[in-house]
Amino acid sequence: MTRSVVNLVLLSATIFISIFSASSSGSASHEDFLQCFQSGLGVNTNTSSGIVFTKTSSSYESILDASIRNSRFLATSVPKPNFIVTPHNLFHIQLALRCSKHSNLQVRVRSGGHDYEGLSYVSNVPFIIIDLFNLRSITINMEDETAWVQSGATLGELYYAIANRSKVHGFPAGSCATIGIGGHLSGGGFGTIFRKYGLAADNVIDAQIINVNGTILNRRAMGEDLFWAIRGGGGSSFGVITAWKIKLVQVPSTVTIFEVSRNLDDGGSEIFTKWQTVAPKLPAELFLHAVLGVSNSASRLGNKTVVFSFTGMYLGTAENLLPLMQESFAEFGLKRSNFTEMSWIQSVLYFAGFSVDQSSEVLLNRNITSSSFKTKSDYVTEPISSTGLEGLWKMLVLEESQFIILTPYGGIMSEIPESATPFPHRKSMLYGIQYSVSWDSNEDATMYIKWIRTLYDYLAPYVSKLPRRAYLNYRDLDLGVNGPNTSYVEAQSWGLKYFNQNFKRLVEVKARVDPQNFFRNEQSIPPL
Ligand SMILES: Cc1cc2nc3c(=O)[nH]c(=O)nc-3n(C[C@H](O)[C@H](O)[C@H](O)COP(=O)(O)OP(=O)(O)OC[C@H]3O[C@@H](n4cnc5c(N)ncnc54)[C@H](O)[C@@H]3O)c2cc1C
Ligand SMILES: *[C@@H]1O[C@H](CO)[C@@H](O)[C@H](O)[C@H]1NC(C)=O
Ligand SMILES: *[C@@H]1O[C@H](CO)[C@@H](O)[C@H](O)[C@H]1NC(C)=O
Ligand SMILES: *[C@@H]1O[C@H](CO)[C@@H](O)[C@H](O)[C@H]1NC(C)=O
Ligand SMILES: *[C@@H]1O[C@H](CO)[C@@H](O)[C@H](O)[C@H]1NC(C)=O
Ligand SMILES: *[C@@H]1O[C@H](CO)[C@@H](O)[C@H](O)[C@H]1NC(C)=O
Ligand SMILES: *[C@@H]1O[C@H](CO)[C@@H](O)[C@H](O)[C@H]1NC(C)=O
Ligand SMILES: *[C@@H]1O[C@H](CO)[C@@H](O)[C@H](O)[C@H]1NC(C)=O
Repeated sequence: MTRSVVNLVLLSATIFISIFSASSSGSASHEDFLQCFQSGLGVNTNTSSGIVFTKTSSSYESILDASIRNSRFLATSVPKPNFIVTPHNLFHIQLALRCSKHSNLQVRVRSGGHDYEGLSYVSNVPFIIIDLFNLRSITINMEDETAWVQSGATLGELYYAIANRSKVHGFPAGSCATIGIGGHLSGGGFGTIFRKYGLAADNVIDAQIINVNGTILNRRAMGEDLFWAIRGGGGSSFGVITAWKIKLVQVPSTVTIFEVSRNLDDGGSEIFTKWQTVAPKLPAELFLHAVLGVSNSASRLGNKTVVFSFTGMYLGTAENLLPLMQESFAEFGLKRSNFTEMSWIQSVLYFAGFSVDQSSEVLLNRNITSSSFKTKSDYVTEPISSTGLEGLWKMLVLEESQFIILTPYGGIMSEIPESATPFPHRKSMLYGIQYSVSWDSNEDATMYIKWIRTLYDYLAPYVSKLPRRAYLNYRDLDLGVNGPNTSYVEAQSWGLKYFNQNFKRLVEVKARVDPQNFFRNEQSIPPL
């Protein structure tokens, strides 16, 4: 961390004590929030000052909508925050926590806004959003190959900053460039090089959090239990995580990409059957995921077919990849000419949906359009039988506007113990599944959501059981939601799916750091 940030933290902490020493009764009306915040700032300032936005502020709507990454939650019928706080420093966060407590407003923290269920910006009770987009500094230290990254930065900004300093360093995290550091790292975070280097959360070595009392804590001060919890347990239950110290990883100067497509009638189904057991056993340097979609062409199932796209990313040269692919997937018939060599940052562009010839500056663009969608997840521990797959293809051709991404595990993911972080999906997993369906008009939402739930029900016999696993960062409120006084036992409905045996420890940490359950949402960890 730079000296100026440290000074700021110390200064903030000092001012903070005086503000918090005034008693907070929790009985004030919601409007008092503004007054509380303004008097806390202690200077001649008002809502136009660019920190707090009310429903009548001219930029309220554009700030709110800027990071809504699921258009389902753009609708006017979706509850909006009473206030949006866009902190410029840590003191503003402390003040926002203090004043929301004082005014009985719930707090939602937003980094990149990619939460699939909109939990970072939607609540059914009066609430504020603390939107961290101004807190996005990235400080890279090449000497010890680490970086401090503020939560409001995006993955694209991080990848760009790393590539700007070194052609042979990278960071193992997700593909979409606008994902926020705050939600991603606190929920796990995987991408194309995770079989070699682990999750984003596995590569966090320190963090800075503001707890329920407004105290700023680093790893040493927060203790190993809380530091464990925020690396996969979701940040939203524990406080506002403002920055992360990450370990950069060394990547080769040349990586190799390839893509192969098949459909139902030219061997797609057979190759997929094999992929289920072979892809998780490939060397950790090779990532080969499968994306299933539907296209309008005749097949044995009628006028539509299932399209299987296998995309590979190899940490090494085409020359070294060729024998590996000829041995493991001869049926692809791959030649040297099917491989494209590039730098790691170009592979980032590729998986983020850009052309590899584009300038990496496109990774900095936050102004993207989003669709309305519903997503669910699963993990597979035994290959799905041919009967199971045939039924799946039949279900898929019923609905065009969906896709399924299947991500092979194995590699280092099988070596990291289940309890190392709250993310438990490790050794026994062959692959993870993400089901998505999207739509244009929100009037059709119910129909599409019903369809994806039917698909999910269909797959129950074929995927992990007791608990049926799910990935926290693919948030799914169908798995269960908290009531006003949800108990540990009730919350197990979703808690065990996301965290398995780690759920109990998360509950214990929560009970210690936020016993009053101030940081809460539909799927926050309950205190014991
Ligand atoms: C298009 C798209 C592509 C994706 N691709 C991948 C992928 O390749 N790999 C992968 O692993 N995941 C992927 N995801 C899922 C993504 O990792 C999660 O949605 C992640 O939680 C998003 O983080 P965020 O900061 O953008 O979201 P937000 O909506 O801002 O936050 C998500 C949750 O974390 C909480 N939170 C956010 N910031 C903080 C903070 N600073 N302190 C405390 N709590 C906080 C929020 O309150 C909310 O509960 C993708 C999602 C989308 C929409
Ligand atoms: C708020 O600040 C702006 C300029 O920053 C000023 O024009 C406006 O009059 C102020 N409003 C109030 C109510 O003080
Ligand atoms: C790195 O960033 C600096 C400052 O933004 C820029 O001037 C420079 O061109 C970048 N270098 C590379 C290699 O991208
Ligand atoms: C591989 O390249 C050959 C030509 O060299 C081409 O005919 C074939 O379609 C390619 N295969 C894939 C999967 O792209
Ligand atoms: C397939 O398409 C043809 C011509 O468009 C149509 O007549 C037929 O009913 C379709 N079959 C099915 C099963 O949808
Ligand atoms: C974002 O992109 C849209 C369409 O590409 C454009 O109309 C709009 O002006 C852009 N907004 C900003 C803030 O750049
Ligand atoms: C929830 O718990 C509080 C405090 O224990 C209690 O006052 C309240 O009645 C409970 N609410 C419900 C719905 O059970
Ligand atoms: C918060 O402050 C209260 C009152 O001083 C104290 O009892 C409690 O232990 C503190 N909680 C944490 C998590 O530091």
